[in-house]
Amino acid sequence: MRDEVLTAAARKNLFLAPEALEIIDSNGYSMDFVNTLLNSLSNNAFLVTKQDVLDFLNGDKGLFTSEKVIKPRIKRDLDLKIVPGSDITGQSTCVGTIEDFTNYFRSRYNILKKILTNRKDFGFASTIEAARRHNRDVKIVGMVYDKKITQKNGHTILEIEDETGTCSVFISKDSPLANEIFVNDEVIGVAGKFAEKSKLFIANEIFRPDVPKNHTWVPSDSTSSIAFLSDIHIGSKEFLTASWEKMIAWLRHNAAEQEINYLVLPGDVVDGIGAYPDQEKDLEILDIYKQYEALSEYLKEIPDHMKVVLHPGNHDACRLAEPQPALNEMYTKTFDSSIYMTGNPINLEVEGRFVTSYHGKSIDDWIAGVRGMTYEDPIRVMKEMVVRRHMAPMYGARNALAPEKKDYLALEHLPDIFVSGHVHGAGGMDYKGVKMINASTWQSQTDYQKQHNFNPNPGVMPVVHLGTGKMTMMEFAKD
Ligand SMILES: [Fe+2]
Ligand SMILES: [Fe+2]
Repeated sequence: MRDEVLTAAARKNLFLAPEALEIIDSNGYSMDFVNTLLNSLSNNAFLVTKQDVLDFLNGDKGLFTSEKVIKPRIKRDLDLKIVPGSDITGQSTCVGTIEDFTNYFRSRYNILKKILTNRKDFGFASTIEAARRHNRDVKIVGMVYDKKITQKNGHTILEIEDETGTCSVFISKDSPLANEIFVNDEVIGVAGKFAEKSKLFIANEIFRPDVPKNHTWVPSDSTSSIAFLSDIHIGSKEFLTASWEKMIAWLRHNAAEQEINYLVLPGDVVDGIGAYPDQEKDLEILDIYKQYEALSEYLKEIPDHMKVVLHPGNHDACRLAEPQPALNEMYTKTFDSSIYMTGNPINLEVEGRFVTSYHGKSIDDWIAGVRGMTYEDPIRVMKEMVVRRHMAPMYGARNALAPEKKDYLALEHLPDIFVSGHVHGAGGMDYKGVKMINASTWQSQTDYQKQHNFNPNPGVMPVVHLGTGKMTMMEFAKD
């Protein structure tokens, strides 16, 4: 345990004071707790003190603390809506022409530019073309299409593009900006000016769309909670029937009383067929239709008062390219008609809270392509998504993106709750008032995952209180 904690801290360039380590170790806190604690520290922290751990335990940043109870003034009716324009189902127009790609990237650029220029500390943006003409300090907004480190001196050169042209942004290796993480196809703001008689734009500040400064979760009078069950993987031999039944029994006894009124299933609801080589060896149910039929039976056990939303993931019978449309009716004939079948990702409005649910396939690309990202800490990846206000910026990597007219993967509207799955981890974090959750799995480790050294954290149901924002991780895999 000690080694794991120290490794997690070292990954974030943090040192743990011996007394801090002692508290964590002697109380047997989980790695989810440790990761949430480490994520809650400010970016300039380098030493985690005993006081930091005590503050975390007493404060309101984590999942493991209680938050003050807001007395309800108005009793709300159950209220869940699919946010118009956020579901690709029936709206797909792309066929993959050059025009489709142009429109798609233009949509992304315009959405993110608008968020950047609405930042109080950013304001007016010049175009690259105008900046080149005037040669004075300006701010520009561009999409990053390449990044190089100069061989001789180790400086960073970013190639960025806007609607008027391209330019090379120079970041000196001695600049505080040298440690910034850049990912392909993200949209950034850059303050600086063109060097005289040079094509280089010298950066002195980088801006991200991010969350507005001082944004927080504002408590409401809502008394309901929303729960998440990701990556159920029905059909797999490793589906955790006993844990699932334990969780359902708990819901049937407690959900109505505790007002857990909403449930979101963020994809990989079945194990699918042919999702990876030799998958059939891991399958209990070899027929995709039967997998969905079995799922529909399991879902009938969910208490009737709960409003359920289900969208696909990469194991589901659906196009892989994101955004993914809702499951076709041929698979869902046996489902209760009250279940909302939506595309992936989807935005929901639940009792006034904005909820974005995304399966999370792009997390693979973030981990493969960005220094410091790991499967053990998907919440850190989700934070980078929120900072860039985009769930899958990297085009042409492992995760396929369909060039639709609109960029459905941009976080155009800042969510109150942002949930993903896919990596089978369980954790949560409050980032500037955005409750970010990775919503576990109901499948234990498969042989394929064992070979790839992939350790899931199954049987956890995250629950978020819509009034207070309190996050609770309910564990059902352990006795
Ligand atoms: Fe999965
Ligand atoms: Fe997945």
